[in-house]
Amino acid sequence: MHVLSYLPSGLLSLFFAWYLLPLAYANSYFVISQPSKGNIWANGAVNPISWTKGLLDGVNSLDIELARLSQDGLIFVARDVPATSSTGALNLLLQDVPAGDDYYLLFLNSTHGVMYASSQRFSIADAGNSSATSATPAAGAATVTVSGAPNPTAVFATTFPPSANGVSAPGWRAFEGARPQLLALSAVMVVCALGGAWTVL
Ligand SMILES: *[C@@H]1O[C@H](CO)[C@@H](O)[C@H](O)[C@H]1NC(C)=O
Ligand SMILES: *[C@@H]1O[C@H](CO)[C@@H](O)[C@H](O)[C@H]1NC(C)=O
Repeated sequence: MHVLSYLPSGLLSLFFAWYLLPLAYANSYFVISQPSKGNIWANGAVNPISWTKGLLDGVNSLDIELARLSQDGLIFVARDVPATSSTGALNLLLQDVPAGDDYYLLFLNSTHGVMYASSQRFSIADAGNSSATSATPAAGAATVTVSGAPNPTAVFATTFPPSANGVSAPGWRAFEGARPQLLALSAVMVVCALGGAWTVL
């Protein structure tokens, strides 16, 4: 007989529910695969961004910003980019963005400032600089044009329409904010079922 079966199943469920709760909140996986470390993007060219993320992380759209380590100011790239599937991509046409080797991409919700992911450090080179990496633009992804230097008064270069967010069933939308709780709830239910199974064994 398993030692766990000496404990009341209700107590077990409670214990495991608490144990699993942080997992329900911290299960997000979000990686920006392109640009990767040391990539050199070119002005006057289309440069691909791509990412991989957890499918059930509750993030359905995101805002993308371009930041530099050595300078204040952000370049607002795109707002409300649809991110409902586990992989995504966007192409960036750069125009007159200052050359530098200390750029980062930030994926966040700019409304409440929650950061989802940041890219590795990469460079942006002037148009015609032969050392720029000629990466192939992502097939089937939207292309956003970004012009000029970081500007605190600028707005996002592109805002994707809400319809493009591809939020599944309208009924599900009401539960959007409650998704972590729902996840936690299902974890508790699984644990309860397990607890029950242990007492039977
Ligand atoms: C950011 O969060 C707010 C409030 O939760 C939400 O209404 C908005 O759609 C989110 N923005 C993006 C880009 O996901
Ligand atoms: C080309 O880009 C690289 C990488 O950003 C930089 O180190 C180099 O100075 C640039 N060359 C010219 C001629 O601007």
